[in-house]
Amino acid sequence: MTGFPPPKLDILIIGSGAAGLTLALRAARFARVGVLSKASLEQGATFYAQGGIAAVLDKGDSLESHIEDTMIVGGGLCHREMVEHVVNHSAAAVRWLLEQGVPFSTRTEAAAQETGGATDLSSLHLAQEGAHSHRRIIHATDATGKAVFETLRQRAREHPGIHLMEGWTAIDLIALGRKAGSRRRCGGVYVLDDASREVHSIAARFVVLATGGASKAYLYTTNPDSASGDGIAMAWRAGCRVGNMEFNQFHPTCLFHPHARSFLITEAMRGEGAWLELPDGERFMHRFDSRGELASRDVVARAIDHETKRLGEDCVYLNISHQPAELVRERFPNIHRRCLELGIDITRDRIPVVPAAHYTCGGVMINRHGETDIENLYAVGETTFSGLHGANRIASNSLSECFVIAFSAADSIAEKFADTPFPEAGETWPAGRGESGDDVLVSHNWDELRRCMWDYVGIVRSDSRLRRAERRLELLREEIRDHFRSYRISRDLLELRNLVLVASLIVRSAAARRESRGLHFNLDHPQTASEAVDTVLVPTDHADLSGAHAPGAQSLS
Ligand code: FAD
Ligand code: SIN
Repeated sequence: MTGFPPPKLDILIIGSGAAGLTLALRAARFARVGVLSKASLEQGATFYAQGGIAAVLDKGDSLESHIEDTMIVGGGLCHREMVEHVVNHSAAAVRWLLEQGVPFSTRTEAAAQETGGATDLSSLHLAQEGAHSHRRIIHATDATGKAVFETLRQRAREHPGIHLMEGWTAIDLIALGRKAGSRRRCGGVYVLDDASREVHSIAARFVVLATGGASKAYLYTTNPDSASGDGIAMAWRAGCRVGNMEFNQFHPTCLFHPHARSFLITEAMRGEGAWLELPDGERFMHRFDSRGELASRDVVARAIDHETKRLGEDCVYLNISHQPAELVRERFPNIHRRCLELGIDITRDRIPVVPAAHYTCGGVMINRHGETDIENLYAVGETTFSGLHGANRIASNSLSECFVIAFSAADSIAEKFADTPFPEAGETWPAGRGESGDDVLVSHNWDELRRCMWDYVGIVRSDSRLRRAERRLELLREEIRDHFRSYRISRDLLELRNLVLVASLIVRSAAARRESRGLHFNLDHPQTASEAVDTVLVPTDHADLSGAHAPGAQSLS
C-alpha cells in the first residue's frame, strides 16, 4: 500500500532505509504500520551501501574476534554489552534477509546451485574490509544496499499491514505529558506534504525514528541528500539526549571527479588488494600504519588528508589494476561501470580518491531495544547512538546494527502493544507561517553551513577552528530562525533548520572533548585521555517544539 497518510496508525516509522523497513516487516506481524519517507523511498544511505554486512559465518572466525575488532576500532568508547548484542545476532539477521530473498553473492555459482540458490549461510561469499581480522562481510557484489533495499521494499509493498508514504517530511514529534513530574510521551508526528506544502498530523501509539545520519552537514559527502540529521534534531527538540556527536566518520575513498557526485569506492576494493598511491606512484599507507591500506578508516582518512596537504595535491589514487581484469569486473561491476562512464577503466587506470563525510557515529541515545528517553518513541539505525561504534565505526557494522536493533525494537513494541492506547489529541502545529520563502537565501545558508563544517570541524580540528565554527553557526542559526518564522515551510527549510541544529551539537561535543580519540582529532589536544568517556548532551529547554528558540545544552562528560 502506498499514498496519503492515514490520520491514525499503530506504529509510525519515519524512514524507509534498512532500519525502517526491517522494523516495519517485523512489526506488521502484530500491528498496522506506516512508513514515511521524504522524497522517494530509496533516497536513504541504505540504497547506496556497497561493501556489505558484517557477520560471523566462517568456521575459522569467531564472535569474540568480531567483538574485539569492533571494540579496538571504537577506541575505548564501545559499550561492550551493545557490541555483543549486535555481533551475536548478526548471522540471524543475514539468515532473515536471505529468507526475504536478498540476492547475496555466493562463493561460487556451484555452491549456490548445490544449496538450491543462496538460501544457505554457508554458501555466501565473505569479503574483507579494513580492521576486520577475518573475512566476514556478506555482500551483493558491490551494491549490497540496493539489493537489500529493493528486496525489503518489495516485501513491504506486498504486505497488507504496511502503508508506505513517499514525499512526506516529518517536521516534529507530537510530545505529550509536559506536566511537571510526568514522563514525556510521543503521540505522533507533524508531517509536511512536500508537494502541497501543507502540514498534517498523524497520531500513533508508537513512533520510530529511522531517519539515517547527518553527513550532509559537510560539503563533501558520500551520502544522499536525505542525510540531514532530521531524527536527531526532532528527538533533541522533543527532549531526548544525544551522544557522541563529535565522531563523524570520513570515508577515505570517495571518487574525486568533477562529474561524479558523492560516489563511493568501497573499502572492499582494498580488501581485494587495491592499494593507495601518491601522484608519483609511491605507496604511502605503511608509513602511517603497519596494516597499510586495511588500517581503520580514521587512520587511512587522516593519512590521505596529511599527504594531500603536504604535497598540495587534490587527491590520491586507488589502484587495483594489478589484479586480473576479469576478477575486478566481476567483483566490482557497478564501480567499474560508473568509472568507465567517466573515462576511468579501473582494470587499467588508477582511481582518483579523496576522503568525504560518510557516517554519523553519534545520535539519539537508545538502549538495546531502541527505546529513547521519551515513552513510545523508538529510534533505530544511523540516527542513533547505541554504543556499538564508540569513537569510530568498523566497516559494515552499520547495516548489521540496523537489522539487529530493528528486530529488538519490534519485540519491545510487541510486548507493550496491548497496554498502549491511542494517544489523546496533542497540540496543533503552530500556525501563522508566511506565504512564500526566499529559496536563494535558504540555499546560500545551506552552502555556508556545509562549507563551515568542512573547513573547521573536519578530519583535523583545533580549538580555534571550533570556536570559529561556533560563531558562524550562531549567526546561521539566527538567520534560519528568521526564515522559519517568516516563510512558508518547505522540505529544504526543514532540513536546513535540522542541519544547523545538528551541526551545533557536533561542534559543542567536539569542543567538550579535550583529547583526540578515534575519529575526533584536535591539534591542540593530540593525546588520548586515560579514561574514555562518552559526550552526552542534555536538552534543557523542553518547551520548544517549533525550533523558534535554540535549545540549550550542557555536556555531562
Ligand atoms: P537510511 O538508509 O539513510 O534511511 C533514512 C530514511 O529516512 C530515508 O528513507 C529518508 O528519506 C528518511 N527520512 C529522513 N528524514 C526524514 C524526515 N524528516 N521525514 C521523512 N523521512 C525522513 N554501512 C554498512 O554497514 N555497510 C556498507 O557497505 C555501507 N556502505 C555505505 C556506502 C555509502 C555510499 C553510504 C552513504 C553509507 C554506507 N554504509 C554502509 C552506511 C549505511 O549504509 C547506513 O548507515 C545505513 O544504511 C543507514 O540506514 P538507516 O535505515 O538508518 O537510514
Ligand atoms: C564501503 O563499502 O566501503 C562502506 C562500508 C561501510 O561504510 O561500512
